[in-house]
Amino acid sequence: MEQYAIKGGNPLVGEVEIGGAKNAALPILAASVMTDETVYIENVPDVRDTNVMLSALEGIGVLMKREDRHTVTMNAANISTTVLVDERLKKIRASYYLIGALLGKYKQAEVVLPGGCDIGSRAIDQHIKGFRALGAEVVVEYGMIKTKAEHLVGSHIYMDVVSVGATINVMMAATMAEGKTIIENAAKEPHVVDLANFLNSMGANIKGAGTDVIRIKGVPRLHGTEYAIIPDQIEAGTFMFAAAITKGDVMVKNVITKHLESITAKLLEIGCEVEEADDCVRVVASKPLRHTQVKTLPYPGFPTDMQPQIAVALAMSQGTSIVTESIFENRFKYVDELTRMGANIKVEGNVAIINGVKKYTGASISAPDLRAGAALVLAALSAEGYSTVDDIRYIERGYEDFHLKLQSLGAQIELIETERDFQKFKLKTG
Ligand code: EPZ
Repeated sequence: MEQYAIKGGNPLVGEVEIGGAKNAALPILAASVMTDETVYIENVPDVRDTNVMLSALEGIGVLMKREDRHTVTMNAANISTTVLVDERLKKIRASYYLIGALLGKYKQAEVVLPGGCDIGSRAIDQHIKGFRALGAEVVVEYGMIKTKAEHLVGSHIYMDVVSVGATINVMMAATMAEGKTIIENAAKEPHVVDLANFLNSMGANIKGAGTDVIRIKGVPRLHGTEYAIIPDQIEAGTFMFAAAITKGDVMVKNVITKHLESITAKLLEIGCEVEEADDCVRVVASKPLRHTQVKTLPYPGFPTDMQPQIAVALAMSQGTSIVTESIFENRFKYVDELTRMGANIKVEGNVAIINGVKKYTGASISAPDLRAGAALVLAALSAEGYSTVDDIRYIERGYEDFHLKLQSLGAQIELIETERDFQKFKLKTG
């Protein structure tokens, strides 16, 4: 099994290019089945989750051409089925976006129940509530979610919780329903807005995305489009915190600084310098980091997908910090791994009380999920000595060329497969 081998201690210095947003690409690729015309999509990240989605779409007959590593042309005019049982879809959360897209276009869909990182219950009751409000029958049986409707009719839907997935899924289904739909208490994440913009570029009539009230006027059909996916807010934030954690100086390029406001605010609070330009942000960490408090919230609050990364920074800062995870119930699994590296953290429910330590020491650790895996790599990059990180397939789900980008910033990190590879890495870097 592939692992990362890491020798800590090098401050990360240099420039890194951010790729397309995974969590925008997944619904946009799914939504491509909502037209019989060709769609041309740029800035698709080449990560495991998007590749699983692309191959599932190809499996139901979507004609696909990879123009280059990050550009794909798709045509779904002759798909063979609206039943998706591809086993790999069980591994990704976003498989359920195919339900909203197929239900919207074909008024029916059967998709294997979603998987995704084990960070909490990952319920789908709000998705089901939205589909039913639009007039669809929904049944969950035999590990599948099955839905169909004579027609979909617009409705006034109030989300009981702010849900990115449910907002996106209901938006897709409502796009081709008859009449008006209002989604109240909608999620406002950048990827919700990106999907709305994509659908509008295909002839949809969606207003208010990015606010908590989204208004949709159903349209009978959607046409082809050319579209470029927004930069990944979380990949950008991860590299910004990589600079903080390794006391480096990193220019993060190809970002939308507006999407990074809560991340920038926290970096300033803990003592980093942050310089913004139109599509890049520079983070310099020359002084010891300071403690702070942070609570994860729906956008524009501090993102839950950045919670492990800030916790790693705070666990090596001066003083006591408090991290509150308000979105998911089980997103502190990495704390045990970080403790093996010398961290002093106590988790009580959805709160982590962090007493900063002077430094981490290298250890053999495992990635418990996608974002925690990336955060643990950052801890290992700052640690004294050598570390190995296994279960890196989680990290590869959402970060393209993660170790190569870190290497380009001066990190001593390599992919290894065996103990012998690790010994060779140690000899080379010793
Ligand atoms: C999306 O997950 C992202 N995944 C997650 O990123 C991200 O952490 C999350 O949004 C929050 O921003 C993708 O976009 C593929 P939610 P999603 O529905 O849609 C509860 C990553 O690292 N809820 O906003 O599943 C749910 O249990 C991943 O890229 C219900 O109760 O998140 C959670 O507590 C990890 N009922 C809260 O809402 C529902 O029907 C927020 O979940 C739906 C959700």
